Amino acid sequence: MKTLVIYESMFGNTRDIARATAEGLAEWSDVSITDVDSALLTVPADATLVVAGGPTHAFSMSRETTRHDAVARGAVRGSAGGLRDWLAAVSLAVPVPLATFDTHTKQRWVPGSASRAAAKEGRTRGFIPVASRSFYVTDVQGPLVTGELERARHWGRSLYSGVSGSVRSRTVLD
Ligand SMILES: Cc1cc2nc3c(=O)[nH]c(=O)nc-3n(C[C@H](O)[C@H](O)[C@H](O)COP(=O)(O)O)c2cc1C
Repeated sequence: MKTLVIYESMFGNTRDIARATAEGLAEWSDVSITDVDSALLTVPADATLVVAGGPTHAFSMSRETTRHDAVARGAVRGSAGGLRDWLAAVSLAVPVPLATFDTHTKQRWVPGSASRAAAKEGRTRGFIPVASRSFYVTDVQGPLVTGELERARHWGRSLYSGVSGSVRSRTVLD
């Protein structure tokens, strides 16, 4: 099993969720974790799973304008490409299961999220969406709500069942 974890993060919260998710994934898979700015634009044919996440900005994945807003609010990361841009550019040799995640503020109802938008875009790019999960920050800059890192570790562990189901159905279809 080989898993690629790809994350975008402006204030570091989604990066921390990505790392905790990777710890859970490492219990059943080889894992490599990469900031979206350094992620390859080709997913290797032997990848079992891609786990991709970013912060929810304006009910969806970030855009250049929202990343500029985040920098104006004190984010340290530059506004290079985000998850949306990576998904638009990536190519796959074969369909690969995709799990998506995001962080967003819990204080108010959110009609859209980066994880759901990423799953939708991923499907159009040839991925097989298998799971989607939101994690919560207490405010725009963070920190994460208490317990979210453990929830992410648990999610990483639990992704095995979604992937093995998807691999089985691919085998049947093949
Ligand atoms: C420009 C901008 C737009 C945002 N829009 C939303 C939103 O629509 N819904 C929400 O719950 N949080 C929103 N947030 C809060 C982000 O989700 C939060 O900053 C993010 O989870 C922090 O993750 P990071 O530390 O990885 O950047 C927004 C933040 C910024 C900077």
